[in-house]
Amino acid sequence: MSIVLPAFTPIEQTLYLTLCGRVLDNHLPDPILSDPMAGQLVTRLGYDCGRFHLSTSPIINIAHRAKKLDEIARRFIARHPDAVGLDLGAGLDTRVFRIDPPAGVDWYDVDYPEVIAARQRLLPRRAHAHGIGADLTDPDWLDAIAGDRPAVIVADGLLAFLTQDDMIALLRRLVDHFPSGEIAFNGYSRFAIWAARHYHGTQSVAGLLRSPGFDDPREPERWDPRLHLVKEILLTREPEVAQFPPALRWFTRLSAHSTAWSRKGTTVLHYRF
Ligand SMILES: C[S@@+](CC[C@H](N)C(=O)[O-])C[C@H]1O[C@@H](n2cnc3c(N)ncnc32)[C@H](O)[C@@H]1O
Repeated sequence: MSIVLPAFTPIEQTLYLTLCGRVLDNHLPDPILSDPMAGQLVTRLGYDCGRFHLSTSPIINIAHRAKKLDEIARRFIARHPDAVGLDLGAGLDTRVFRIDPPAGVDWYDVDYPEVIAARQRLLPRRAHAHGIGADLTDPDWLDAIAGDRPAVIVADGLLAFLTQDDMIALLRRLVDHFPSGEIAFNGYSRFAIWAARHYHGTQSVAGLLRSPGFDDPREPERWDPRLHLVKEILLTREPEVAQFPPALRWFTRLSAHSTAWSRKGTTVLHYRF
């Protein structure tokens, strides 16, 4: 019998779109992320991912950016085995299980309280993995995490739902709180926000988008000069493109020739402080 969760708010429900993207990636002949736990979760929930009518391109996109964020977190943790890791707007993502940090790392999944309660019901307990139920625009949620260790902070699919002012305030609070660290998130260009409002596969989130998007990966450096761009990862130029189905691979390789065109798709922005 499937598990019935309390009703989520519309913004909380956005977690199903990305969860289903990872589930459907795992059904592809050559998955980009390969997250079997995502499929186990939707089976237990009896959730029908077919309702999003996702085509291959957004499925691959969701899986690909998750993989890049995992890689950034893994590399940081390999260099800082005493780090803290944060996944902001974690939804029902099983990132901590994919990354599998060593015992010296404390990992924090942060999302609204109802989502964190659902995670606690659905996901196996794990030593050194913690949930924080909070609104990320609340200035006090970071009080739950000691601020004396280097931090790797990822946000996957979150920032489109924050206003620019809330995003800037969140970044500042993170940089204020930790002595050093890295922050990475999928960037939303102005075009990406426009497209998400109009593409049929993202209609469920269109009315919830708050960010205007930004095109220059150096813009966050101007919001807080302690942030330094490590890399703008244009997914069109990443090696996983070789795994894409032929037509999508051809189009992506063509897009890769132009930075401006590549930025219209998904980017992963990686900063240190
Ligand atoms: C598109 S989902 C992505 C979830 C997850 N990162 C993933 O990749 O599956 C966006 C998530 O951000 C959370 N979220 C949005 N705004 C938030 C806020 N102000 N505070 C806490 N969580 C928020 C939502 O509840 C949702 O779980």
